Amino acid sequence: MCGIIAYLGPRQALEILLHGLQRMEYRGYDSAGIAVLSQLADAAGSGSEGAAAAASAAAPGTAHPVKVVKRAGKVARLAAAVEAAGIEGSLGIGHTRWSTHGPPNDSNSHPHCSAGCEVSVVHNGVLENYGSLKKMLQAKGYTFSSDTDTEVLAHLVFDTRKEHPALAPEEAVRKALTLVTGAFGVVFLFSDQPDLLVGARRGSPLILGVGEGEYLLASDASAIVEHTKHVVYLEEDTLVTVRRGGYSISHITETGADGKPLPHDPEVVELELSLEKIEKGGHPHFMIKEIMEQPEVLANAMRGRILDDGSIHLGGIKPLLPRIAKASRIIICACGTSLHAGMVAEYLIESMCRVPVEVEYASEFRYRTPIIKEDDVVIAISQSGETADTLAAVKLAKEAGALCLGFVNVVGSSIARQTDAGVYLHVGPEIGVASTKAFTGQVVVLSMFALALAAERGTLSKEELASRGLALRDSTKLIAGALANADKAYEMAKSFRFAHSFLYLGRGFNYPVALEGALKLKEISYIHAEGYAAAEMKHGPIALIDAFMPVVIMAPKTDPTYDKIKANMEEVAARDGCLIVVTDEGNDEFDSRAEHVLKVPESPEWIAPLVYSIPLQLLSYYIAAFRKCPIDQPRNLAKSVTVE
Ligand code: G6P
Repeated sequence: MCGIIAYLGPRQALEILLHGLQRMEYRGYDSAGIAVLSQLADAAGSGSEGAAAAASAAAPGTAHPVKVVKRAGKVARLAAAVEAAGIEGSLGIGHTRWSTHGPPNDSNSHPHCSAGCEVSVVHNGVLENYGSLKKMLQAKGYTFSSDTDTEVLAHLVFDTRKEHPALAPEEAVRKALTLVTGAFGVVFLFSDQPDLLVGARRGSPLILGVGEGEYLLASDASAIVEHTKHVVYLEEDTLVTVRRGGYSISHITETGADGKPLPHDPEVVELELSLEKIEKGGHPHFMIKEIMEQPEVLANAMRGRILDDGSIHLGGIKPLLPRIAKASRIIICACGTSLHAGMVAEYLIESMCRVPVEVEYASEFRYRTPIIKEDDVVIAISQSGETADTLAAVKLAKEAGALCLGFVNVVGSSIARQTDAGVYLHVGPEIGVASTKAFTGQVVVLSMFALALAAERGTLSKEELASRGLALRDSTKLIAGALANADKAYEMAKSFRFAHSFLYLGRGFNYPVALEGALKLKEISYIHAEGYAAAEMKHGPIALIDAFMPVVIMAPKTDPTYDKIKANMEEVAARDGCLIVVTDEGNDEFDSRAEHVLKVPESPEWIAPLVYSIPLQLLSYYIAAFRKCPIDQPRNLAKSVTVE
């Protein structure tokens, strides 16, 4: 949700910023902008579209021209606009936006600047008290040119420097940030400081890339991996000062006995990410690449974790298993697709480990004064590891003294760092906004967790554990088998591309799959869809059924409620509903009964969510492709939701 990037080094900043923004576009794509400082020597003769040139007398030191170009729309629009602007300079900041305050237009795009561009800022997050700060600044004579919360930061830092001219610019930022409530990942650029970037984070991610004589700041690693693999994941509530000769990190507010901000010793770590993993690899969209690579990436997620004897080894949580095994309850908090994976986990854990599980929307959990006990285990599930509501649920659980585990894909992300322990999904970067491989990755990791917990609690026999472990490891073959039937989903998608509404029905383990199937379709094709527990259809949705309503029903033969699912199908057929049945290969029961039948390899009941979600992913993808929707960047959505 908004991506920020900054560069300071010997090279031209513009290309690096634009490339970084393109890589982070999945975080937000309704507008984009850059600000580049040209040192006076470089700046001679350059034109100035949208430029705010020399700074006013209020800023100390010599002012260099800062060129700002911002555009509503995608980064490609910004790239076309900057071409004509003759921008040169080796220090700059950039932003790709997902609007929170103010519609997506040129003036609401970031960077935001003080009146003469003495201070420019890019921001990811939401400033909760921006209204009162804005009033205070307006009373002092500052005028605002956007509807955003972010603009207050530019004026506030400018004002702080004006009021306290002896303060170093980074100290002015620190002082200004103490007045702010809410979440931010920010980077400031000063027109009188050609050798300085100041970044800070609270609640939104920010990483520092340490290259050869150059530095980058960004919301995520994909934006900088082509320049350096050495990064510092900035801790919560820290401020980083970057100069050409080095950088220093300190706490924003915490001070030592001497009253000075506490320094923070950064750990430089090596990124595991490779460039190839964040490219489309010949596919038209990231989403289809990510769907198709599931057998391979899920094998990676299980490698070294399921041994040849079927036993499970999850290093991150192994020492805690005795404590987890004693939990009186497991609470799972997540949002969106991750919540659906959590619902699958409820079925997995309760059936295999006999521990009560509650699954909660993190956004509800955090505000409903939940009862959390010290012997509860709270599990946060998140692809990005940055979802604001899930992160808040983690904090709440920790404050209550519960053990908090994170099941996260993005290494080094906030949830990964703030939970007591956890398991990474290891399915590689997911760039398509609609989650696919992260969902199956979550289900795989949660299945391994359930097996490890069942072993610890002795709720499954040794033989059962071993055979389930190996069956899970082999599930990649079943998934590959489901993908091999992609043609059928493609053909079906053609017939349904003009549908107005869909129902998805499933029972037991496939109830969350029905919810997820409906969510996928809504997200990328903009067709209304509802997921329901099949038996609940009678309690309302059945009123919607007519010949124009496609109803997708999951009917695995291994489901103990198979006969009841068939009865649910008859109820749809009796009302002329258009039946689409997903069932096992070799099951011909519906071939003449249903309008369409999608087949997948047969799987044990508890593995079915992994296999049955594949045709639903494909169906959504192909329908959206036929409708010519912007599949990887659906309207109004963002991959990483760092605001409430
Ligand atoms: C956004 C994304 C969804 C995702 C949800 C939770 O809404 O568009 O695809 O499922 O956030 O994200 P998380 O990163 O916490 O899994």
